[in-house]
Amino acid sequence: MILIDNNFLKTFSEKTSQTPIWFMRQAGRYLPEYLEIRNKTNSFLEFCYNPELSSIVTLQPIKRFDFDAAIFFSDILVIPDALGKKVWFEKNYGPKLDIWNLDNLPEFNEVSFLKHLQPVYEGIKIAREKLNKEKALIGFAGAPWTIATYCLEGGGSKTFEISKKLAYNYPNKFLKLIDLLTEAITIHLINQIKAGANALQIFDSWAGILDDFHFEKYSINPVNNIINNIKKIYPNIPIIFFPKNAYFNYKKIALEMNIDGLSLDSNIDIKWIIENLDNKITLQGNLDPMYLLTENTDILKRKLDEIMINFKNRKHIFNLGHGINKDTPIKNVEFVVDYIRNFK
Ligand code: CP3
Repeated sequence: MILIDNNFLKTFSEKTSQTPIWFMRQAGRYLPEYLEIRNKTNSFLEFCYNPELSSIVTLQPIKRFDFDAAIFFSDILVIPDALGKKVWFEKNYGPKLDIWNLDNLPEFNEVSFLKHLQPVYEGIKIAREKLNKEKALIGFAGAPWTIATYCLEGGGSKTFEISKKLAYNYPNKFLKLIDLLTEAITIHLINQIKAGANALQIFDSWAGILDDFHFEKYSINPVNNIINNIKKIYPNIPIIFFPKNAYFNYKKIALEMNIDGLSLDSNIDIKWIIENLDNKITLQGNLDPMYLLTENTDILKRKLDEIMINFKNRKHIFNLGHGINKDTPIKNVEFVVDYIRNFK
């Protein structure tokens, strides 16, 4: 689909006069209209695999805030689920997974994998049809390393003890898991483009816990493989990478990876980024989502000015440094969108 005058897509080739804006996790629990639908569904994954509902909640934040892009409503953990390992979400706890064993990895069966994820592609198709032609639709996936940690820990973790122990001590076996996830993620992203996604984002939420050697091995290399394989078929679909808390590795990423956009977390110093990264890559970010919990808009304004002034001469997409918090007041989101749109 050809989009009309979309600043989000345009900013991958030129600095746009108005900075495009969207928020990570923009469809979610801070929205009353999301909660209304969510409360009627039993399981979170059932919700993700319902094309009608997933397409409706994808469009909710666009209707309310007029963001420049919609991100399709799904989750990074549909990948292990589609590979035949059970994933479920417990109330007030988060995701839980059948624990994977490096000696007994599932076989990759493309037919059953795609069949399992068909409702996601169906939802993307509906969302793209319903979305205004001036808005872009973003497809996404988790990066192999981040998904691997959930598979091996059986859920989230504070220390990543199991994942790190296996990654450091059994690199050959560990790479087999990374390779399996790399193949599955590539196919999942290609099918999201086929269904109508106009751009992609790859979330490596736990990139920041690896040292440089393992970061290159388990994050940069496999994500580069995914990107290069997608670019062979779809060279013009912009791909954004979000290696959360990559610190000084942002420089290496910009030099070594074939990405169009780099999403920055809130901890990195923007001035360092501007000094160390050239103008080739579009930069996305990086408001700390906790600023949106403020009751004092002067605090918010000061931070928004800092971000906008620093990115003034850069191709920039305004976004958060991580997902929006569930307690975010709607009026603060409205305030930020309005402030960025009118920023001079
Ligand atoms: O951005 C969007 O609006 C699109 C949808 C989206 C979700 N998850 C919906 C969701 C996206 C892009 C994700 C990515 C995701 N999921 C990541 C990477 C980004 C990040 O936040 O670091 C990760 C690590 C996950 C795994 C995951 N899913 C966790 C840890 C949780 C529980 C934490 C929580 O906030 O409850 C989820 C559940 C989840 N995914 C929810 C939403 C809206 C909340 C579930 C609910 O409504 O009950």
